[in-house]
Amino acid sequence: MVELVIDTDPGVDDARAIMLAQAHPDAKIYALTTVGGNVGVDQTTANACVLLDALGVAPDRTPIYRGAGTGLLAVQYDGAYFHGADGFGNNNFLPSSRRVEGEHAVNALVRMANERPGELTLAAIGPLTNLALATRLDPALPHKFKRLVIMGGTIRGTGNNRRNPSAEFNAYMDPEAMAIVFETWQDFWLVSWETTLHHQLEPAQVEQLMSVNTPRGKFWAQLTRESLEYVTKRMGRPGLLMPDEIALAIAVEPEIVTKSEHRYMSMELRGEHTRGQTTVDWFNLTGRAPNAHVVLEINKERFIELLMASAQ
Ligand code: RIB
Ligand code: CA
Repeated sequence: MVELVIDTDPGVDDARAIMLAQAHPDAKIYALTTVGGNVGVDQTTANACVLLDALGVAPDRTPIYRGAGTGLLAVQYDGAYFHGADGFGNNNFLPSSRRVEGEHAVNALVRMANERPGELTLAAIGPLTNLALATRLDPALPHKFKRLVIMGGTIRGTGNNRRNPSAEFNAYMDPEAMAIVFETWQDFWLVSWETTLHHQLEPAQVEQLMSVNTPRGKFWAQLTRESLEYVTKRMGRPGLLMPDEIALAIAVEPEIVTKSEHRYMSMELRGEHTRGQTTVDWFNLTGRAPNAHVVLEINKERFIELLMASAQ
């Protein structure tokens, strides 16, 4: 059983990623920690509550811990242009009455790892502010989580944000946090924006997923509809990009990775046009020890199966 802590900024793809994990027979979502990113942390936390309600998760299961509202060096930017003003596709779901824990997410990350050393898998699918702060609080944290899977960063300078086009959104929102994680965690798995692009769903797969006639399927489609229109307009054809979903698929089924490289990754903090860009030492030129398993390929057929299962 993979016991998951998911650090997240829900976010449409975050929600679908959490649905994928929640539906997986070999995974249990132990806790959610929220962070500001796609939208503000109050909204991402409220969305996490709405999501667990929609999935029928009992109120006393899967605690939610509210985390950092801005990056270590606050950036005035968000992902509302893609995820909607509510972060959930402008569906304006009814607010949830679900309780949010009083403990801060950063303290919760440290506590959970110390209570369950070597047992919990951490999937970080938003800006890494909470994780960086937790690692400063407990420098041994990298040895206390069983595994870390990150969605974030670029591996060939192809980013997705409007300020620095060579930076991926989560990286750009808190470059210092990602730099801290890169310097302190030795063996994380990383899903980049380029790998996300490489696994864009085909129109037929989109159609299949958007037409699952179950309550979860309808919720999945409702979340997705507006961002699908956005992608279709920009790409000229229906296509869904699944960054967080790929990260959670790897977290719950490590064997889904069919190609990865163990390399040293670093973070650019100062470039006028490149702040937030992450770089990969593909040919071991720096002599620095690898810190990242850079995911390049996953089993696409199995990935679609996991997505379909999450909408049943
Ligand atoms: O760049 C994609 C990442 O940024 C995803 O985690 C998405 O949810 C946004 O947070
Ligand atoms: Ca996210």
